[in-house]
Amino acid sequence: MLQVQNLWKRFGDAWAVEDLSFHVNSGEIVGLLGPNGAGKTTTIRCVASLLQPTEGRILLDGHDVSEDPVAAKRALAFVPEVPNPYEMLTVMEHLRFVAAAYRMEEELVHAEAILRRLDLWEKRNELGVSLSKGMRQKLACACAFIHQAKIFCFDEPLIGLDPKGMRELKSMLMERREQGNALLVSTHMLDTAERLCDRVIILKRGKLVAEGTVQELHEKLSSTDGTSLEDMFLELTEEIEPV
Ligand SMILES: Nc1ncnc2c1ncn2[C@@H]1O[C@H](COP(=O)(O)OP(=O)(O)OP(=O)(O)O)[C@@H](O)[C@H]1O
Ligand SMILES: [Mg+2]
Repeated sequence: MLQVQNLWKRFGDAWAVEDLSFHVNSGEIVGLLGPNGAGKTTTIRCVASLLQPTEGRILLDGHDVSEDPVAAKRALAFVPEVPNPYEMLTVMEHLRFVAAAYRMEEELVHAEAILRRLDLWEKRNELGVSLSKGMRQKLACACAFIHQAKIFCFDEPLIGLDPKGMRELKSMLMERREQGNALLVSTHMLDTAERLCDRVIILKRGKLVAEGTVQELHEKLSSTDGTSLEDMFLELTEEIEPV
C-alpha cells in the first residue's frame, strides 16, 4: 500500500536519509522509530510530497508520487509533526475544507462523531488561532480521519495529547487497521509502539538499522525474555564513541 524505495534526501552537504526502503501493507500499523535527527520527519515529509526526495521512489496505493501526484495524494492522510491550523477557520470549517478538497463532502456525516471522540465538538465553532497545542493536534487528526484515505502517516501524533485523547487516538488507529488501511506512525513512545505496532522500523542517522516485529528484533538481537523494545532500541541506536 505504501512503498518507499531507495529513498535518499540531502540537505546541503548532509544526508538526512540514506538509501531507505520499506513498505506498509494494508491492515498494518508500522512504527517509525529513531533518535532525534534520525530522519523520521524527513521520510514522512517525502511521503507526503512536502519534500522532494534527492533520489528514490515513493508509491502510494500503487501511484508514484512524482509521476501521478494527484492520485497518490488522494490515497494519503497526513498529520504533521507541528500542526498549524488555519487561524481564521473554525474547527468545523477545517473539516469542511478538507472534505471539499478531497471531494468527499458526504464524509462530513462523520464529523460530529470524530470531533466528539477527540473532545473537540464543544470547540467546533472556535477559530484555529484560539486552539491549545493539544487541540491543534487533535484537529489535525480529525482532518486526517474525515476523508477516506487508504494510507495514514502520523508524525508523533501522541505528543501533547491528554491521556483520554491518547487512548482515543490509539483506538482510532486500530480501527483504521481493522478496516484495512496502512498506517505509518513515528513516535518516541516505545512502550506504546510495542503494544500498537505490528512492525517497527528503526532509523539511525538516516539509515535503517532494524526492521520487523518486536519478536523478530528479539531473535535478531538474541535478546533474553523480558528485554523491552526500549532496551533493543537503545542497543541498536547507541553511539559508539571513537577511541
Ligand atoms: N529543512 C532542513 N534543512 C536542513 N537540514 C534539515 C532540515 N530538516 C531536517 N534536517 C536535518 O535532517 C536530519 C533529520 O531530521 P528529521 O527532522 O528528519 O529527524 P527526526 O527523526 O524527525 O527527529 P526528531 O525525533 O527530533 O523529530 C537532521 O540532521 C536535521 O538537522
Ligand atoms: Mg521529527
